[in-house]
Amino acid sequence: MLQKIKETTAYIQQCVNFEPEVGIILGSGLGNLAGEIEVVKAVSYKDIPNFPVSTVKGHSGQLVFGYLGGKKVVAMQGRFHYYEGYTMQQVTFPVRVLKFLGIKMLIVSNASGGTNTAFRVGDIMVITDHINHFGTNPLIGPNIEELGPRFPEMSRAYDPVFIKKAFEIADRERIALQKGVYIGVTGPTFETPSEYKFFAIAGADAVGMSTVPEVIVARHMGLRVFGLSVITDMGIGEVLEKPTHEEVLKAASAAEPKMTTIVKKLIEEVEL
Ligand code: HPA
Repeated sequence: MLQKIKETTAYIQQCVNFEPEVGIILGSGLGNLAGEIEVVKAVSYKDIPNFPVSTVKGHSGQLVFGYLGGKKVVAMQGRFHYYEGYTMQQVTFPVRVLKFLGIKMLIVSNASGGTNTAFRVGDIMVITDHINHFGTNPLIGPNIEELGPRFPEMSRAYDPVFIKKAFEIADRERIALQKGVYIGVTGPTFETPSEYKFFAIAGADAVGMSTVPEVIVARHMGLRVFGLSVITDMGIGEVLEKPTHEEVLKAASAAEPKMTTIVKKLIEEVEL
């Protein structure tokens, strides 16, 4: 794997002479955030050796290099989900490469279902912690010491400094922000009413099908992480019908401008 990471990194570096400080993973319906980046160069996943190619509608699949909030960033426009059939190693491979390209901070975003009755569709939740409910872990297998430790620490997976800063920004910009625990599941089914209830009882505020694998790998390599989740549907309370994938994308797009503001200002104001 190390060889592959190095090979992919070398290829990208040969395409773009640009060392990003911040990596951003754009989730379902949030890909337009890339439109805010002053683009230096975009590289299509299909041209990158060892990169998986994304299959889901609404995920276009490219690395966008450029400036955002005055810092050098690289955004993954389109991510890989476990439910698509990729292995955990494939899902998280791009995060390994972004680290090798030079990032110190990883920003993750996703669409999720609310399991906290105080939430509403369209809310933005700062992820304070996660529960890995995938039933597997991307670090299973021989540990590569050059990448990180055998037993990584996960007590502050989502950097408290970034969380505090995000709330300061939201206050200033008059953006309502929720905070909570994200539980990651394989999907592709949405949850049954009993499953939503189970996750709420377990301490989750939102449930989704991504993010956890990438954050585990990011922490393995010592990256500092910030995560935002857009509540695109509610799994609990007065829920009549589950959303279609289109409705999830629509709700995510509606929250996008607010998310963009938070992400942009956070990048601008954090010290890395
Ligand atoms: N469950 C799981 N993943 C999701 C949901 C949900 O309700 N909404 C958006 N992604």
